[in-house]
Amino acid sequence: MPVRAHITGVGGYLPERVLTNRDLERIVDTSDEWIVERTGIRERHIIAEDQRTSDLALEAARQALADAGIEAGDLDALVVATTTPDMVFPSTAAIVQAKLGVAGFPVWDIQAVCSGFVYGLAQLAGMMEAGMFRRVLLVGAESMSRILDWTDRSTCVLFGDGAGAVVLEARDDGEGGVLGSVLDADGSHRKLLMAAHPHPGASPDAVGDAPDDAPDLQVDAAGVAAIEMKGNEVFRIAVTRLGEVVGRVLDHCGMDESEVDWLIPHQANIRIIQATARKLGLGMERIAITVDRHANTSSASVPLALNEYYRAERIRPGQVLLLEAFGAGFVWGANLVRWSKS
Ligand code: UT7
Repeated sequence: MPVRAHITGVGGYLPERVLTNRDLERIVDTSDEWIVERTGIRERHIIAEDQRTSDLALEAARQALADAGIEAGDLDALVVATTTPDMVFPSTAAIVQAKLGVAGFPVWDIQAVCSGFVYGLAQLAGMMEAGMFRRVLLVGAESMSRILDWTDRSTCVLFGDGAGAVVLEARDDGEGGVLGSVLDADGSHRKLLMAAHPHPGASPDAVGDAPDDAPDLQVDAAGVAAIEMKGNEVFRIAVTRLGEVVGRVLDHCGMDESEVDWLIPHQANIRIIQATARKLGLGMERIAITVDRHANTSSASVPLALNEYYRAERIRPGQVLLLEAFGAGFVWGANLVRWSKS
């Protein structure tokens, strides 16, 4: 049997505070009806004032380690996928490592925005297949509420905060594990969805010459960036690219749609998820859906959905999971996993 990365522990954490669509009606000119109809979102969790992304990551990490029955000191590597790091540097992964009270193995962050977890899973599985690591922790953690313009109804209703994590262990004794991944990107679309660099003095020039129709970059007095998005254009390209990439990852692994038991999609918009499900010919009972309660938690959304369906015992050993995500850049990708954990 080939060496593969098996998911042996799963964890998730959502901050306590819940912000409903009705709450948002008091902040911007929106309605619960509009948000539910256009996105499927009903509520989202918001990080507490005294929490940082690393705190959310830490909770999810601890849960995943406990679920795998290992200690932080048993790890060979720790990776955090995030687009809302605690600081420019050090990495959030280094901060989480310190908070876990361990050292002596490599740590790094991945910045692939909403695709960070899918990118991280592909990267770490490849490194494990090559024999570099035996036990690693991958976390997707975000505090998206910190980079929102709370006066912009077209973006502030879409995002939420949270963290999800998996422990991966290299094994050569079974059919399961990460079967394969496909990653892709097209930076020519970078101006359709962006947030300026979050350090004071960051220049809009950093993203190059903006075309006339590009949104103006918003950086507040403290130098904090806000998300800007041309939502309907992002939507159109996301549906097309995700429809392609799910086919590509199946081809890559020599499998077809009928072998997929679960779609674990990035949770940006229920209509994007439904379009991908239609492409795969999967009924909605085979799709992990958390967008209604979590909104878009960027790199945390896939592991949070995985955590929820795993803990509800919906995902069973031997089943095939298709993970996919699409985010700013644009960067997108998909992983196929045969579940080996009971
Ligand atoms: O995770 C990374 C990728 N991100 C995404 O995948 C997000 C992709 N995009 C989307 O999910 C959707 O495009 C949105 C949910 C953002 C928007 O839905 P849409 O159906 O594309 O609406 P739209 O942007 O075309 O706007 C339609 C109308 C506009 O009004 P007019 O110009 O038709 O009068 C907007 O001003 O809806 C208005 N609108 C709102 N109305 C009430 C925009 N935001 C809101 C709001 N409440 N929150």
